Amino acid sequence: CRDARLTRRFGSTFIIHEHIPYNSAMNKKQVTLEFDELAYDELSAAERELVEMAREATFRSYAPYSQFRVGAAIELSNGERVPGSNQENVAYPSGTCAERSACFYAHARYPDAKFERIAIAARGTDGEFTPTPTAPCGACRQALLEYEQLAGHDVPVLLAAADKVYRLPSVRSTLPLAFVEF
Ligand code: THU
Repeated sequence: CRDARLTRRFGSTFIIHEHIPYNSAMNKKQVTLEFDELAYDELSAAERELVEMAREATFRSYAPYSQFRVGAAIELSNGERVPGSNQENVAYPSGTCAERSACFYAHARYPDAKFERIAIAARGTDGEFTPTPTAPCGACRQALLEYEQLAGHDVPVLLAAADKVYRLPSVRSTLPLAFVEF
């Protein structure tokens, strides 16, 4: 069930075991994700406005194939807020997620502005906001991470469900051992 999947994904801990060959002692390392679960009215005004923009953006999603409507909104250092939504295509991989539509548009439109905060919301096939938060896919985490790095500071991510919001401290926290340079 969806709850069980989220518990695994956000159960609070990603554990990475590193096995050192030819050594009886294992060198274990651990990466932990801590985040807040909040009621909507526990958010600041700026957070609430961004969540509202992400929710509104779900109504501009183009999702004729999945019927899963995702909205994202990004608050920028210049005071602008930029929405995005998933845009599907009959050639499925040609479409894109809400998060990438928002971050690519934000940086294309305001290349000098830094990302300050991100919100994500989704409506399922029943048309209702999802009862559990929807988290960005791996490709979107990678794309968002680049803009967090350009900002030079943590960019909190708000995952909004119908009645609660997960506030993740940063994009980086969602992508342990990320690929950031070559
Ligand atoms: N989708 C997003 O827009 N963001 C996510 O975080 C997960 C998935 C979209 C892609 C596709 O259009 C639909 O949701 C179903 O996967």
